[in-house]
Amino acid sequence: MFALTVPGLASVLRAEVDETDGLSAGATGCDRRADVVRLTAGRGARGAALGMRVAEDVFVEVGHTRRGAGDPAATIARRLWRDDLVPRALSAWADESGPLSASLTFRVVTRVLDERAFLRTDLRRRLTEAIQRDRPRWRGDDPARLEVWAVEYAPGRFVAGLRLSDAAMRQHHGREVEREGALRPAVAAAMVRLAGAPDGTLLDPCCGSGTILGEAVDAGWQAAGTDIDPDAVRAATTNVPAASARTGDARDLDAADASVAAYVSNLPFGRQYRVPGDRTAWLRTVLGEAARVTRPGGRVVLLVPDLPRAVVPPVLRRADRLPVRLLGARTSVWAFDRVSDR
Ligand SMILES: C[S@@+](CC[C@H](N)C(=O)[O-])C[C@H]1O[C@@H](n2cnc3c(N)ncnc32)[C@H](O)[C@@H]1O
Repeated sequence: MFALTVPGLASVLRAEVDETDGLSAGATGCDRRADVVRLTAGRGARGAALGMRVAEDVFVEVGHTRRGAGDPAATIARRLWRDDLVPRALSAWADESGPLSASLTFRVVTRVLDERAFLRTDLRRRLTEAIQRDRPRWRGDDPARLEVWAVEYAPGRFVAGLRLSDAAMRQHHGREVEREGALRPAVAAAMVRLAGAPDGTLLDPCCGSGTILGEAVDAGWQAAGTDIDPDAVRAATTNVPAASARTGDARDLDAADASVAAYVSNLPFGRQYRVPGDRTAWLRTVLGEAARVTRPGGRVVLLVPDLPRAVVPPVLRRADRLPVRLLGARTSVWAFDRVSDR
């Protein structure tokens, strides 16, 4: 099998794979649009793969190959769609997606790292031809019941698979109320994982529509959110009734010192949100509050493009930084350990 996630989150997805019963992670790469994690699934563990939260798509593998110098697309396509291996993958797909009809509709999606050396459309055409030779009654269509994806996840390394997931996997439970700038649930899930094992209250002080709160509740945290905008608080309350949300200012939190075990937030920087005044001063104040309300031994996890060292209080010790790409923009997930003041 293989799974895709947001570029930059492969290490978090690998950890989720390895912690899921019956799954273990293998080679990792990136096809430029998504990080790719190959994985093996024991008997009956494919359903568990579909339940992963950091993954956005899951595939059952039909073949993999390396591209030797000068190998044309037709050769790669033949190695990816091998008549002897396909039946097993198809029966695995049918177990999750329903019965296979003889006249199935299918669609091929290809992603390659270097368009000049190897045309994506050429590989798509050759793979479509290979499938049609093997399954003459299948019909190409878009949308189609079966999607066959072939991705180059590292230079010259290809893996192909049948897509098991649909849009619901990316949306998790979906949001009843949508707001601009809402986070992709897989990113929120990754941030909540980086906060560690659930242990009391997780606070998102800029909660927007509540995506992080929803993931926190699912992981087993008591989730609390604030937002400066009452509309956001209403959205979060509707979207995540199990969390508590109220209006509040991240620069001056109405929370006692050391009262939360985790502080996880997608700060208001980016296309939709700006902060008033000097950005460095805003960050210094907000991170000071994060350090104050998070108890020693807890975690602070932030999504923000950059964090000058000068804005980070000494009690927040950097544990991780994951550069991620969201809608083509570069940003980072930062994780800090809240260490003791002494
Ligand atoms: C990027 S959005 C958060 C999106 C959220 N993660 C979601 O999935 O919907 C940033 C949020 O910060 C809020 N915000 C801006 N300044 C704030 C402040 N000083 N205190 C609290 N919230 C603030 C905005 O109203 C906005 O809802």
